[in-house]
Amino acid sequence: MKEKLDGIRLAALGMIEEARDTSRLNDIRVKYLGKSGEISAIMRDMANVPKEDRPAMGKLVNEMRGEVENALLLKTKTLSRLEEERKLKAEEIDVTLPSGGKKLGTLHPLTLIKKELIEIFAGMGFSVDEGPEIESDLFNFQLLNIPKDHPSRDMQDTFYVNDNIVLRTQTSAMQARIMTTTKPPIRVVVPGKVYRSDDDASHSPIFNQFEGLAIDKHITMGDLQGCLQTFAQKIFSKDTKVRLRPSYFPFTEPSVEVDVTCSMCHGKGCRVCKGTGWVEILGAGIVNPAVLDMCGIDSSIYSGFAFGFGIDRIAMIKYGIPNIKLLYENDVRFLKQFN
Ligand code: PHE
Repeated sequence: MKEKLDGIRLAALGMIEEARDTSRLNDIRVKYLGKSGEISAIMRDMANVPKEDRPAMGKLVNEMRGEVENALLLKTKTLSRLEEERKLKAEEIDVTLPSGGKKLGTLHPLTLIKKELIEIFAGMGFSVDEGPEIESDLFNFQLLNIPKDHPSRDMQDTFYVNDNIVLRTQTSAMQARIMTTTKPPIRVVVPGKVYRSDDDASHSPIFNQFEGLAIDKHITMGDLQGCLQTFAQKIFSKDTKVRLRPSYFPFTEPSVEVDVTCSMCHGKGCRVCKGTGWVEILGAGIVNPAVLDMCGIDSSIYSGFAFGFGIDRIAMIKYGIPNIKLLYENDVRFLKQFN
């Protein structure tokens, strides 16, 4: 029995000595001290030891168990300290390393163009106004000489909220709002979002327009042309030429469609201008006297011009952007080119 005990003791202490981690120590604890462990088995065997030997034997077993427990305890302490150190080492952060750097956002190209446009027109004495995107039929259409069921409504595929409320199809709605509330002289530009049920490479159901309105005594088509010439040369380049073609809008009379020489090829002909050297950029005209009168401005005293264009279109021409969707997808690889 004594030899057997010694054998177990040596084996246990040897295993503890060699253990390299705390989970191994746990296995050893189970193997010797667990319910069905070897030392526990010996304790149970005590019944077979002759009565007179039992006290001495019991003492021996208890000592041995104490020795193994102690060894386990000591080794557990050592190993868990080592494990802790290893874990801390693995999670170490070098605070002296240089950081990855902060990524700064940039202004969206449409915002950049809008700011530039406002700057240009402010330089010609225009103030800036904004208006509602959910607009009444009255301002978006009727006061602009587009009565209900008028065929010219087909020019714009309108999103109707109900019979009298629309998502504004044009910033021209603000012309009516401003004329009904402001006494001339008026010189104002209105940037803003507009909505149309239209969707292809050059049309998005939501896009941005820029409206201009000037009303005073003796305003003529010459004023409109000069104003647009200045604008085109500032937003594109000094050598940009402007061309006016007759057109039709219910709220201007006469109306014009305005082309500029292509800013990509300077009039030589390229992909952007489809080889013509010119690109159409806006609609404009002399404010229809009927509109002035409907909005409460005496057309026998005052006249005015108005124009409206897509900010998106200006951005596409200026930067050679082939698809309007690129302006709304917000792909960072696209956006970061406009620093
Ligand atoms: N509102 C017109 C459009 O969206 C453009 C325009 C504005 C035409 C002002 C004339 C005067 O097509």
